[in-house]
Amino acid sequence: MSMDLFEQLKRFITEIEQAQAADAEALEQFRKKFVGAKNVIKPLQKGIRELEAEQRPVFGQLLNKAKQLAEEKYKALKASIEAGQEAEEVDKLDLTAPAEPLELGARHPVAIVMDRIIDVFSRIGFTIAQGPEIEDDWHNFTAMNTPEDHPARDMQDTYYLMNDPAMLLRTHTSSVQSRVMESQKPPIRIIAPGRVYRNETISARSHCQFHQVEGLYIDEGVSFADMKQTMLYFARQMYGPDARIRLRPSFFPFTEPSAEMDVYWGLQSETDYRITKGTGWLEILGCGMVDPNVLENCGIDPNRYSGFAFGMGIERQAMLQYRIGDIRLFFENDLRFLKQFKAAL
Ligand code: PHE
Repeated sequence: MSMDLFEQLKRFITEIEQAQAADAEALEQFRKKFVGAKNVIKPLQKGIRELEAEQRPVFGQLLNKAKQLAEEKYKALKASIEAGQEAEEVDKLDLTAPAEPLELGARHPVAIVMDRIIDVFSRIGFTIAQGPEIEDDWHNFTAMNTPEDHPARDMQDTYYLMNDPAMLLRTHTSSVQSRVMESQKPPIRIIAPGRVYRNETISARSHCQFHQVEGLYIDEGVSFADMKQTMLYFARQMYGPDARIRLRPSFFPFTEPSAEMDVYWGLQSETDYRITKGTGWLEILGCGMVDPNVLENCGIDPNRYSGFAFGMGIERQAMLQYRIGDIRLFFENDLRFLKQFKAAL
């Protein structure tokens, strides 16, 4: 009887070791027989009582080995069946089929217009300069001929950092002018695109953040006529070969004389009347001859060099170009708005 128990168990072990499962059904049969709740190894456990005392531990070990073997074998068989199924699926894949179409995003209208402006100026030799958005008082105001207590600071009220009141969010890209002049020798011909901040009530026409492109040109003998001609070139590139411009006297602390430039928009429709306030002219940028004080502040000899600077808001240009009526749309990330610029890629 005792020999029978050993014999029986050894036969099961051999059977487990040699088992194969061609499909899920065969695997299930194996599971029922050797792993399931009513497996064939279990009943042998009871037989242990019939064994001689010294045979019991040997038999017990063999029993455990059989159980372990059965479980491992079951896992292995299962894994190989699953792998087979996967391989079959891969075989079915048609690698030559066209891929699922990917939905392309659209570029932001501010980025599109910024690139156009950069493009227009890079064609006449301007290179891009950049500066920090968290700026110090010197580069944003004082070097730009706007000392502390100067009333012109009020026009560009901004955000000062709480832990360092000498630092602020730049109010204009003109801060890049001072940085470039401090670090480069003339001739200087740069444009500085970037984000700027002002403490303004948010409305359809103004926002606490927006984008500007600044331009600076310094060399010997640069005149107001050079500036006017460069601005005309810009307007014609942006608004068509027949675009007309006019310069109106204005004031900026860092330019003297200063001007505001308008382009002719037309007076056909009611909207034309509204956005041009009945004049037909639209203001698009500020410009002027760099004030000698600014040159001096930045280490450039005003007796030898002169130059002009200009600055414009990009949202404003984009609003004109795409007839967008509310500046807030640029910052709300509403996909219904942004998707409309797909074609403009
Ligand atoms: N920095 C001015 C502004 O933000 C624009 C400007 C730039 C005017 C350069 C003149 C010259 O309003």
